[in-house]
Amino acid sequence: REPGWTTTADVIVVGSGIAGLTTALRLRRRVDRVLLVTKTVLDEGSTAWAQGGIAAVMSPEDSAAEHVHDTLVAGVGLCDVEAVETLVREGTDAVWDLIALGAEFDRGDTGQISLTREGGHHRDRILHAGGDATGREISRALIAALRRVNDDPGIEVIEHALVVDLLTDARSRVCGVTLHVIGEGQNDGVGAAHARAVVLATGGLGQIYASTTNPPVATGDGMAAALRAGAVLGDLEFVQFHPTVLWLGEGSRGQQPLISEAVRGEGAFLVDGAGERFMQGQHPLADLAPRDVVARAIIRRMRETGTDHVYLDCRHLGAAFLEQRFPSIVERCRGLGFDPATDLLPVAPAQHYASGGVRTDLRGRTSLEGLYACGETSCTGVHGANRLASNSLLEGLVFARRIADDLTARLAAGELPPSSPVDVVDDADRALVRGRRRLEVQRAMTAGAGTVRSAASLDRTETALAALARTGADEDAAKKGGPKSWETTNLLHLGRALTHVARLREETRGGHVREDFPDRDDARYLHHTWLRRSGDGE
Ligand code: SIN
Repeated sequence: REPGWTTTADVIVVGSGIAGLTTALRLRRRVDRVLLVTKTVLDEGSTAWAQGGIAAVMSPEDSAAEHVHDTLVAGVGLCDVEAVETLVREGTDAVWDLIALGAEFDRGDTGQISLTREGGHHRDRILHAGGDATGREISRALIAALRRVNDDPGIEVIEHALVVDLLTDARSRVCGVTLHVIGEGQNDGVGAAHARAVVLATGGLGQIYASTTNPPVATGDGMAAALRAGAVLGDLEFVQFHPTVLWLGEGSRGQQPLISEAVRGEGAFLVDGAGERFMQGQHPLADLAPRDVVARAIIRRMRETGTDHVYLDCRHLGAAFLEQRFPSIVERCRGLGFDPATDLLPVAPAQHYASGGVRTDLRGRTSLEGLYACGETSCTGVHGANRLASNSLLEGLVFARRIADDLTARLAAGELPPSSPVDVVDDADRALVRGRRRLEVQRAMTAGAGTVRSAASLDRTETALAALARTGADEDAAKKGGPKSWETTNLLHLGRALTHVARLREETRGGHVREDFPDRDDARYLHHTWLRRSGDGE
């Protein structure tokens, strides 16, 4: 591509997980030109890493009312009821459509879909594939569908392209993105795509912490671009820490191996170093309590016993069952020196999911005209303060369909006509930090804005991040501007935003744990936290 290249589409979809691919596939043929942009290759995002499964009401023993109820309870009072009802009501059909498209879920002897249970669910309603490789199968099926249909009119795909910022027209309508195509040199890959609408489906921000189950690409690019463009973000302080992530020793950082909650769903349980089961008596669902409850109990037990991990006991499930039901987890654990059939597995909570994101309505529209958000990037209101297990793939699927339908209708009606972006003064040198500073962001976030927070710890994080932002201004501009630099800058911007709202919420609720305010405070905080960047860029 020539430096400063430009391309045009009707709709740009950014991201190639379940949310992005579903949106693009449903838009095809109904909208002329769909451009799908992804930062690395199509199957490298978080969707492909999802183990446990996708939740949906699939059995006559289950009901929509019960799925809604479990979701609302997990969300600790902050879910939007209408959003949850929409998710559950449309979820079953959406999953059947996914199956019709080619996704193969595990089935029992008589061909019925096998359903399991995870934390917070009172019914078996989790579909899984390949035992514990559900996301990989969904990703495979969607990408196969994309390749199958990629004839006239196809979906144009640009891989290895980081979306840097959103373009807006003179009326502040989003009308495109700037892109950095990776591997084309420092600047020669920088270009722009113009469109009538942009859908952000870039996943979460797990890399903001030192230890996460998210892949390295999860740097919050879509959320950060939306924040910079002035969109409203919601509930950023509600970060979900998965209770059972294999503990690989102090100093281990980056993406960590997840031990799916489905393992506890099949009967595994937590014990401390003395072999005592500590979830019993903490919650009626014991080891299968909602994720925030289990993570908090683990942290408490680690503090009481002065350790940095507890153990998951799966030994009684037996080698044959574990190998058949959880082949990927068993292989990964054995590769790291732990045999789930004979060893206790050391586990500790690690970042897993951003329950908040770019605020949307039920059609996926954000506060900026022309901009949509979907999946983990969005805050639809279905997760509240803590997402119910396996509701994330479902959310991506259901709301992608709604976005595609809304865009189809609007574009057909002549809404969102093509328009031209306004030029902006390039102040990137002032704003960017160097890529190698990622570790400093992660350290500051983990130390003060992680599993347990306080005013003092959040203040320390805030100070450290502000100092980092200032050093960006002093750094050599020639060493900045590449994709790594943008990723770290995105993490820094989101880290500052998250820390700010976490400081404001003086209570403990869901994924937000304040040791200086250990109780839930409905009188003051039974509401979402909305956040928008102030005009001066802070
Ligand atoms: C898991 O398998 O435990 C993760 C599933 C989820 O995050 O929904």
